Amino acid sequence: MLLARRDMFKLGAFGAAAVMLPLERTLGASSSGSNRIKSSRLPGPFTVPFAIPSILRPYRQDETSGTDYYRVYMQPTTAEIIPGLRTPLWGYNGEVPGPTVKVRQGRKVVMRQVNILPARHPVLGYTPWTSVHLHGSPSLPQYDGYASDVTNPGQYKDYRYPNTQTARTLWYHDHGVHHTAENVLMGLAAQYHSTDPNEAALPIPHGRFDVPLIVSDAMFNSDGSLLFDNHSESGMYGDVILVNGRPWPVMKVSRRKYRFRILNASISRSYNWSLDSGEPLTVIGTDGGLMPHPQPVTSFRHGMAERYEVVIDFAKYPVGRRVTLTNASPPNNIGYDNTDKVMAFDVVGDDVDPADNVVPDVLMPDNPVMLLRPQEAVRTRKFDLVRQHGKWTINGTSWADIAASGFTRVEADPRDGDVEIWTIRNDSGGWFHPTHVHLIDFRILDRNGAPAMPHEQGPKDVVYVGEKETVRILARFEGRGRYMIHCHNLVHEDHDMMTQFEVLPPVGSQVRGESPLDEPCTALPEAEL
Ligand code: C2O
Ligand code: CU
Ligand code: CU
Repeated sequence: MLLARRDMFKLGAFGAAAVMLPLERTLGASSSGSNRIKSSRLPGPFTVPFAIPSILRPYRQDETSGTDYYRVYMQPTTAEIIPGLRTPLWGYNGEVPGPTVKVRQGRKVVMRQVNILPARHPVLGYTPWTSVHLHGSPSLPQYDGYASDVTNPGQYKDYRYPNTQTARTLWYHDHGVHHTAENVLMGLAAQYHSTDPNEAALPIPHGRFDVPLIVSDAMFNSDGSLLFDNHSESGMYGDVILVNGRPWPVMKVSRRKYRFRILNASISRSYNWSLDSGEPLTVIGTDGGLMPHPQPVTSFRHGMAERYEVVIDFAKYPVGRRVTLTNASPPNNIGYDNTDKVMAFDVVGDDVDPADNVVPDVLMPDNPVMLLRPQEAVRTRKFDLVRQHGKWTINGTSWADIAASGFTRVEADPRDGDVEIWTIRNDSGGWFHPTHVHLIDFRILDRNGAPAMPHEQGPKDVVYVGEKETVRILARFEGRGRYMIHCHNLVHEDHDMMTQFEVLPPVGSQVRGESPLDEPCTALPEAEL
């Protein structure tokens, strides 16, 4: 019966939802969508001013060890997204999206993540255990936000981040097993920027011209609360597009270049950006930081969890002009009236700051991952993204299999220092799977035998594996221990398209990595509850 039910979604979202409702285990009646707010009550596009998340400040800096200490409380909050209604959310320090961390390469970070969420989700009833992942960081296994290394309400965990990697846009988000999608939709996501001497010295936009764009989508009930409908474990889609938590905002820009760090923090929605003016977006950075060379494109596809740093030159427009960022949706997303629009830029006539207003032809020529050659690979592995017996799997494996093995089973076991080619294949025409490999940066060798698209010709940690696509990635595995591989459609990840690999010691060494479950969280002292 269970298998049959899980397979029913093939009938189509509506048929399946109607049939499965009485059997649904975790989602309440609100998942049917019957309580969805009328679209006439939704805010109109381009009516709300743009805003950027706050910057998180360390509460202590230790100069001897070069460590910044942060403390973050995961806690409930509300926001007025629908005019006149309050939406209950969960935020890092009660902010949605959470505050941005800024760090220099070589500076260590200790981040205490305190879970003071309620004992139960207000609508769905599950216990909001959390696990915080700093996506883009080669953290040790016990600080990587391993899905099953959970922190329950009333507990905290100190995460340690090395910040050894080159400048990039990272993000921290929840990774708690089976409820990542709901926890992230509730608001547990934020950016984290690292810089290095090369990035700081380039004449590309910095400071107030270096702007985070966290894009997500959400759907609402008539009381303003979030509507959770995972379409029979296939995906969650909203009819409202949010940028930094605001619906279709408008940003005032001066006549110069801006750099946007675009993070697709949607649960399941992918985008295809362009400007309504037809002018190019110049991609300068990918998940793992600056590209070797800038890539001007008139549009590009952006899967969940990917980060693209993009320069837009507003000097091309007269004062008073409105430029719109649009979304020509890639296949297999659910679209609504205004999901083809994202945000608008209004060109204003203030004094133009001439500093850092250039995109040089060479950005980062010597990033080791971009210099890797396929000949260096010591082996090739295959990863098939498939739906099997009603479950999302990788090579037929799901996180349930990993858990059943006591978290010891691994799908791949490169040795520390090995270069490998991974062939990731999606045979289906009905789904796309942005696939994320923890720990490493990789470069895309090819897609269906053709070169990587221009916008992905930089260091990556998530790759869009579209319908009927086979992608080959190349990476050097450095580190030790067990790390996750999963689809970043968080509904797929939760329903169980996640497995793991282990980086083994090099030949001659016996020193295995620490277990991701080696450092459990701590209960909060009574006084802090
Ligand atoms: Cu951004 Cu394993 O996640
Ligand atoms: Cu990650
Ligand atoms: Cu997927």
